[in-house]
Amino acid sequence: MNKEIVVNLNELDTYLRKIYQVFPALEILDKNIKHDNIVSYYRHSSIIYKYIHSYRGAVHMALNYNGTFDKEGFYTQLNEIIRLINVSTVKNVLELGAGKGFNSIYLANKLPETQFSGIDITDEHLKIANRKSRHIKNLNFTYGDFHQLNYAAASFDLIFDLEAICHAQDSRKVLSEVFRVLKKGGQFVVYDGFREKDFDSLPDNLVQASIMTEKALAVNHFEKIDVWMDMAYQEGFKLKFKKNLSNAIMPNLGRLQLLARKYFEMPFLTNIFLKICPGYTTPNCIAVMLMPFTMHHKAHGYYNVVLEK
Ligand SMILES: C[S@@+](CC[C@H](N)C(=O)[O-])C[C@H]1O[C@@H](n2cnc3c(N)ncnc32)[C@H](O)[C@@H]1O
Repeated sequence: MNKEIVVNLNELDTYLRKIYQVFPALEILDKNIKHDNIVSYYRHSSIIYKYIHSYRGAVHMALNYNGTFDKEGFYTQLNEIIRLINVSTVKNVLELGAGKGFNSIYLANKLPETQFSGIDITDEHLKIANRKSRHIKNLNFTYGDFHQLNYAAASFDLIFDLEAICHAQDSRKVLSEVFRVLKKGGQFVVYDGFREKDFDSLPDNLVQASIMTEKALAVNHFEKIDVWMDMAYQEGFKLKFKKNLSNAIMPNLGRLQLLARKYFEMPFLTNIFLKICPGYTTPNCIAVMLMPFTMHHKAHGYYNVVLEK
């Protein structure tokens, strides 16, 4: 594992104390995250995402299977999705929570015979996605909420999600909508964060760090993977593939955690920085500070799931 990453549970309390020095983090534990909080989070995190995370506009974790962070890893999920697409049968694809368009723009350029659509609720993201894709004929981005898809039944051959449905207020409704607008035999491809099955029996500080991470990312709570899978089966989906990819996002998390550690180790500078650049900088740093602990100790897991209607 990346030697820069800190995941030793003995150090978790030290980091939680450092966080409390600069931010009333305990107050966010009971916060009920709603639609407006999510939009506000992305609107006010744009500088951090652009200049620290990905200048090219990825708003998801890079997947680096060889253990070393590399920006090419932002394309790994997409190259895997391309391998699932048979161009002679997959004609219409929908991306849920398309962000700044990074994913669908890449896919639409690679697969010009397939029509791509992307929806999102953050206007700032949609504006960027639309500007970057204005010359791409087989792609359109529109405002849309994945709880209520504005498409007729059986419209898509494949629907995918990269780290967006974790924001759902009602996961069952999202699964039901995806099932409705997929064609029979269509696939739902998910790369997202979940709580692991044994979440409730973990040590208190780890559970607290996990909830803090979720709220800091404007997520009410990650679904438990087994509970979410049960919901998908009840909806009528069949499982084609499921893999825990947490190790592959560790290099990206390690890089971000290193920056966050510096941020919390200098509370004086942090306070000055906060005055200049308020936004969601501190919650962002909290999330990437703590997530290596929550992933390593199996409170959270990053999963790729492929479901079939
Ligand atoms: C972590 S970003 C991922 C963006 C993009 N999938 C990517 O990989 O770059 C999550 C996105 O989901 C969007 N989102 C959150 N809740 C949504 C909802 N109910 N319906 C549609 N989009 C939503 C956010 O606005 C944000 O753009």
